[in-house]
Amino acid sequence: MKIIDNRRSVRSYLDKPVEQEKIEKILRAAMQAPSAGNQRPWEFVVVRNKTLLQKLSEMSPYSKMVASAPVAIVLLGKEKDLMFEEFWTQDMGACTQNLLLEIVEQGMGGVWLGVASQDDRMQYVKETLSLKEGMPFAVVPFGYTDKEQTYIDRYEEDRVTYLD
Ligand SMILES: Cc1cc2nc3c(=O)[nH]c(=O)nc-3n(C[C@H](O)[C@H](O)[C@H](O)COP(=O)(O)O)c2cc1C
Repeated sequence: MKIIDNRRSVRSYLDKPVEQEKIEKILRAAMQAPSAGNQRPWEFVVVRNKTLLQKLSEMSPYSKMVASAPVAIVLLGKEKDLMFEEFWTQDMGACTQNLLLEIVEQGMGGVWLGVASQDDRMQYVKETLSLKEGMPFAVVPFGYTDKEQTYIDRYEEDRVTYLD
């Protein structure tokens, strides 16, 4: 798929709002992800408030770009009633990748900022957003960009074993 090939982490954004309709398409794609037993452990916080974006950008030395993004989606894992609790991070990984790919499909760029399972980052996001429940998994700032996203060939034959 072209969007899989061309998706790159984009860390600078134009000062242009993202349409609500596009945000919904991105969330819809995220919720289409596979999950263990179809448990769909995800929840999403869409952050557009400038003060909160600024605070989220201070999560780590590698999250500064959040301050200049028009929007960031915070992906949370549910804490309760999971059928296969041990798989929540795998479920959330698939969900985050779907979300990133739909951002590209919608003509924008974003970057996955890792939160789980680093306790300090998880705690920071919880406090910043005053979350009562939910385990912060990732923060994805995104928006329109003038950065071109192009294909990088990462195929490595020696990583593959065929057992015929
Ligand atoms: C779990 C995870 C955590 C990441 N955390 C950060 C981060 O904190 N800051 C950042 O700028 N990029 C982060 N990235 C993006 C990676 O740096 C990026 O995907 C990688 O360098 C490959 O580049 P590409 O996305 O352009 O293909 C993260 C990616 C993943 C999957």
